[in-house]
Amino acid sequence: MKNFLQKIPEQVKRLSVLLIVVIVVFIVATSLLTPKDFGLVGHYRASAIKINADQKMQYAGQEACADCHDDMWKTKNAGFHKNLSCEVCHGPSLNHVNEPDQFKPDKPRDRIFCPVCHEYNPSRPTGFPQILSASHNPRRICVTCHNPHNPTPPQTPKECSACHAEISSAKSVSSHMDIPCTKCHEASDKHKLHPREYLPTKPANREFCGQCHSQDAKGDKFIPRINMATHEPRYVCWQCHYPHLPEAQ
Ligand code: HEC
Ligand code: HEC
Ligand code: HEC
Ligand code: HEC
Ligand code: HEC
Ligand code: HEC
Ligand code: HEC
Ligand code: HEC
Repeated sequence: MKNFLQKIPEQVKRLSVLLIVVIVVFIVATSLLTPKDFGLVGHYRASAIKINADQKMQYAGQEACADCHDDMWKTKNAGFHKNLSCEVCHGPSLNHVNEPDQFKPDKPRDRIFCPVCHEYNPSRPTGFPQILSASHNPRRICVTCHNPHNPTPPQTPKECSACHAEISSAKSVSSHMDIPCTKCHEASDKHKLHPREYLPTKPANREFCGQCHSQDAKGDKFIPRINMATHEPRYVCWQCHYPHLPEAQ
């Protein structure tokens, strides 16, 4: 035994002493510092539940608003802002619900508020209603023209370009400039009101382009023709030709 202890190198002995000190400090510290109620009901302090429950409520939830503002509730839920809760715009309003005359919620009427969601930003989904506030009716507050509870603009945009501006400006300088969008896409009027629910059709196959570009297609002589059998038959045309600006590259 004595031999064995002597054989252990000096640095290992010192390390072992250090390790024992660390373990002792750890045990003492955790038993002194861990709150008494830790672990009673789970891996947290039992009293944390009470502290959280004691926090003052600030939001009432939009159902609460319906009791007294029935008209606005109905208007909003029928319009484009149906997915926004009242308090997204009016701020936390629980104290207003409890004492309507005492506390008034915010009314965000200034021009900087609405662009928080509507300022043009390429990362927003295509078709999300966006504006450039610097050029969209500048100097006038948004709510003079848009009812915040039913923001549909005074007239619905009629042209495809109102929403597909980039595509239509590409097309307008291309050799397809005279082909109306609806020649290639069947779009119902409902698409302009509820774009994502009523999507237009898109050309599905090579033959669609072939109706003007194949060698036996009827139509003007000046339309460039291709041999459908030999011109890249393994791909659909728009893998190479952007249909809205089809200039061959
Ligand atoms: C118990 C009834 C009641 C409830 C619930 C209630 N309100 Fe009101 N609210 C009122 C009354 C009363 C007024 C004052 C109307 C007036 O001055 O003409 C008012 C006024 C307002 C105003 C206008 C404040 C101003 O400065 O003109 C806003 C905004 C508003 N409420 C938002 C809300 C929102 C959001 C909720 C839901 C979180 C809500 N209210 C819930 C009764 C209520
Ligand atoms: C998109 C933001 C937005 C949402 C969502 C919204 N509001 Fe408003 N609300 C406004 C703005 C902005 C005004 C101020 C309009 C003005 O002064 O012309 C306003 C005004 C009001 C007023 C005062 C009306 C008046 O004539 O002065 C009430 C009451 C109100 N909102 C209640 C509600 C309730 C209830 C909801 C939910 C059902 C709601 N709002 C949802 C932005 C919003
Ligand atoms: C009110 C705005 C609006 C107007 C006006 C509009 N669109 Fe759209 N369009 C959209 C939105 C939003 C989408 C969906 C985009 C997305 O899901 O990424 C869309 C999608 C499309 C698509 C793609 C369908 C798909 O399956 O991917 C085509 C094609 C299209 N629109 C054609 C048209 C044509 C043609 C017109 C004119 C007759 C038109 N749109 C007018 C907003 C509009
Ligand atoms: C002078 C009246 C007026 C003012 C002020 C105004 N708008 Fe508009 N807004 C319109 C009209 C009209 C349209 C639809 C025609 C168009 O395309 O311009 C529209 C369109 C929009 C659209 C696009 C709708 C869609 O379907 O794509 C958004 C988003 C919008 N406005 C938000 C705002 C915001 C945010 C403000 C304030 C910073 C504002 N507007 C101020 C009149 C106005
Ligand atoms: C929290 C984000 C948010 C805020 C704040 C907000 N909006 Fe909207 N807005 C939306 C959403 C979401 C839609 C629905 C988009 C859709 O259906 O594709 C929308 C739709 C619209 C539309 C399109 C209506 C149409 O007919 O095409 C207009 C215009 C608009 N809002 C104006 C406003 C105005 C004015 C304000 C300020 C009072 C405002 N918004 C504040 C999120 C917001
Ligand atoms: C010559 C036929 C043709 C014309 C004209 C045309 N498109 Fe297309 N469009 C296509 C084809 C083909 C696709 C499918 C591309 C794909 O799947 O990659 C497409 C796709 C789209 C898409 C889906 C998004 C994208 O870029 O792929 C939208 C939105 C669209 N077109 C809108 C329009 C609008 C708006 C016009 C008028 C300004 C228009 N198109 C004119 C053939 C056409
Ligand atoms: C309604 C008939 C029609 C349809 C459908 C059509 N095109 Fe065209 N295309 C034309 C016309 C017209 C021209 C322009 C001829 C000119 O002015 O030189 C053209 C030109 C072209 C060019 C030559 C561009 C250049 O100048 O180099 C290409 C490539 C092309 N189209 C591809 C397509 C593709 C891909 C499709 C299917 C998505 C398609 N076209 C569908 C009528 C059509
Ligand atoms: C793999 C890529 C590819 C595919 C797929 C493809 N093209 Fe092309 N296309 C080209 C290239 C590259 C050119 C230019 C060189 C040439 O004339 O062969 C061209 C040229 C054209 C031209 C102009 C011919 C001229 O005389 O000016 C037309 C029209 C055309 N393509 C239509 C189509 C149509 C319609 C389809 C689908 C049926 C299609 N292309 C599929 C790559 C492609």
